[in-house]
Amino acid sequence: MTGDPDIRPVFPEHRLAVGLVGAGAIARSAHLPAYRDAGVPVVAVASRRVDAATALASDFDIGTVHDSTDALLADPRVEVVDLATGPAGRIDLIEAAVRTGKHVLAQKPLVSSEAELPRLREVLAEASARGVRVAVNQNARWAPAWRLATLLIRDGRIGQVVGVTHLHDKPLPPLVGTPFDEVPHMLLNDYLVHWIDITRCWLEGSRVVEVAATDHRVPAQPEEARNPWGADLRLVTSTGASASIRIAGDARARGGGCPFWIHGTQGTLRGSILLGSDRLSLDDGEAVTDFALEGQWFTDGFAGAMGELQSAVRDGREPENSASHVLATVRTTLAAVASAERGGTPVRPHDLELTPALPGRNGAA
Ligand SMILES: NC(=O)c1ccc[n+]([C@@H]2O[C@H](COP(=O)([O-])OP(=O)(O)OC[C@H]3O[C@@H](n4cnc5c(N)ncnc54)[C@H](O)[C@@H]3O)[C@@H](O)[C@H]2O)c1
Repeated sequence: MTGDPDIRPVFPEHRLAVGLVGAGAIARSAHLPAYRDAGVPVVAVASRRVDAATALASDFDIGTVHDSTDALLADPRVEVVDLATGPAGRIDLIEAAVRTGKHVLAQKPLVSSEAELPRLREVLAEASARGVRVAVNQNARWAPAWRLATLLIRDGRIGQVVGVTHLHDKPLPPLVGTPFDEVPHMLLNDYLVHWIDITRCWLEGSRVVEVAATDHRVPAQPEEARNPWGADLRLVTSTGASASIRIAGDARARGGGCPFWIHGTQGTLRGSILLGSDRLSLDDGEAVTDFALEGQWFTDGFAGAMGELQSAVRDGREPENSASHVLATVRTTLAAVASAERGGTPVRPHDLELTPALPGRNGAA
């Protein structure tokens, strides 16, 4: 048995300079606080509304506000373009950044419709040909309890993963009247993307062969809420491992969090994230080990995602959160939405195998 893995965000000594596109809620509440704490230089910002970009620049000491994204991309100081915009137009922005030779960290969901996949593949091929890295801000991979679980699984500490279970035991964020509530099957198509993504990471080395998902309105859900507040997703992989993710509704709870269980052939990981519930323990069938965790998803996870991209650029390798790797999450998500459209009929995301697995994970497909 090896020592406990180090879960802190990792950066190269020389941080690459970031240009931020999108001066909205997540940039203000998470991207910029995380970069400030991690010593990442943000040299410029651009957003649809220059006043929003100017206010953000003033609050976070960003020296330059560009009046367009094109101007930011032409700024020779910008080495990494941080896209903190919504999914509409995401591929256009990635393509424009790639064409100026800048590395990209794009917010999730990478894309939200199957029709966008062929073009995304073309843009990623162009990035690869130009030696440009495109990563996705799947920052929850660096939520401390989830990150430690990932590293313990890679280290073989629970053998091969047999099953993953998540329960959303907390209130939903405010949704009524927000742009998120306009997204069809929003819980499956957007909100649960981080849960689907981490589940895929824990099942690395196997392919998702079947996804069944439903969403449904729950008792006392206000009529003005367009999306259902309950969702259940189940997936099965090529090794026979399975996973389930459940949101019962907008939980009335003072505490709570998002507990998870990862059952393996040689042990079980039990943990939780969010609302200060962060914890992880390993039960190997003989003893239970509780791990001490530092930090939280918000905002340490955002440092983790940026740090991994910058480390990969330094090392001349693909980042763990590369867009190519996240494509498997995208396909699983799209299969979940397609299943919900069909009332929960299982959907086989037949082209998942196009995404290469990262080395050194449990089980072979
Ligand atoms: N944990 C997470 O990673 C997490 C959490 C919340 C939101 N998000 C994601 O982050 C993204 C942004 O969410 P938000 O809540 O900050 O939204 P928001 O609407 O508050 O902010 C988006 C900003 O981008 C700007 N923008 C949009 N398109 C643009 C374009 N083409 N060029 C320049 N500026 C443009 C908008 O004007 C706005 O300022 C979404 O995709 C959302 O799903 C991720």
